[in-house]
Amino acid sequence: MTQNQADPLDKSRLPLDKEIALKYVTYLVEKRIDDLPQTRRDFCDAAGFHPKLLYNNPHIASIAKLFQDQSSIERLGDMTLREYLMYHYYYIHQGYRYGAPRLQQRWLGHDIIKTPMDCWVYQEIMWETRPDFVIELGVMFGGATHFYASILDLIGHGEVIGIDVSLAKAKPPQSARMRYLEGSSTDPAMVEKIGGITAGKRVLVIADSDHEKNHVLAEIRAYAPMVHVGGYFVVEDALNDVMGYHPVPNEGPKAAAEAFLAENDAFVADRRWGERYIMTLNPNGFLLRVK
Ligand SMILES: C[S@@+](CC[C@H](N)C(=O)[O-])C[C@H]1O[C@@H](n2cnc3c(N)ncnc32)[C@H](O)[C@@H]1O
Repeated sequence: MTQNQADPLDKSRLPLDKEIALKYVTYLVEKRIDDLPQTRRDFCDAAGFHPKLLYNNPHIASIAKLFQDQSSIERLGDMTLREYLMYHYYYIHQGYRYGAPRLQQRWLGHDIIKTPMDCWVYQEIMWETRPDFVIELGVMFGGATHFYASILDLIGHGEVIGIDVSLAKAKPPQSARMRYLEGSSTDPAMVEKIGGITAGKRVLVIADSDHEKNHVLAEIRAYAPMVHVGGYFVVEDALNDVMGYHPVPNEGPKAAAEAFLAENDAFVADRRWGERYIMTLNPNGFLLRVK
């Protein structure tokens, strides 16, 4: 890290930096203009921020590279992985939330809260493990549910069950291979119901609901026993802990996965999936059942 770069994990800086970065990117997206020195001056004048807050902003550093000039692979090549991950998080993965809906990632028109690389990994895992059921904990818009159903369709086998505490935002199922269940993933009645449906089947579980450590740990404990030997329980968004993302700064999915692995030797973190493509939201989150 050079002298001018702020530490992106310095918590004392994050709230204001984030707020300014989000306002600025919203401004760029809405006005469909590039990130140029004059644009920054105009924005700071209008918003009443001192320009230094923009120039030294760790969040802006990433997005700025993409908006500078028209397209510049040389400039993008100077991005650090951390900057790229931040860019992806705020403007692609969570673009719907942070003022950049036109950049939001989509699967066949459905907002999906993933990375393209993790989606590719899911395709590989589904092909290799041939699940009878994919259990998705946390549906939101249903983009990932539709994605899993599409892959199962291509494979010609399997069904996805998406569980969410509220299905108000979920797009209606457009595939016979998917269905939703409304309720909390950790409600004992829900766990029992899914346990009954999946008994003796090949099961892939993907946990992407509430990312608070204790909730994720409760989900792993409840659903991991449903996974067949050779199958996976995927703890999504361990990167939240690493990057300090909203809403779980430190104790999130990564801490939950580590706590589970420490108490259960039937699972190991399969790094082939977590880090093979480098870009993943789930480092050490692909838990393989080995016995
Ligand atoms: C990150 S979103 C899911 C995104 C989706 N899996 C995707 O990749 O497109 C998280 C969802 O988890 C849901 N959720 C939060 N707590 C939950 C719980 N206890 N049980 C089930 N779902 C929950 C929220 O309502 C929200 O829709």
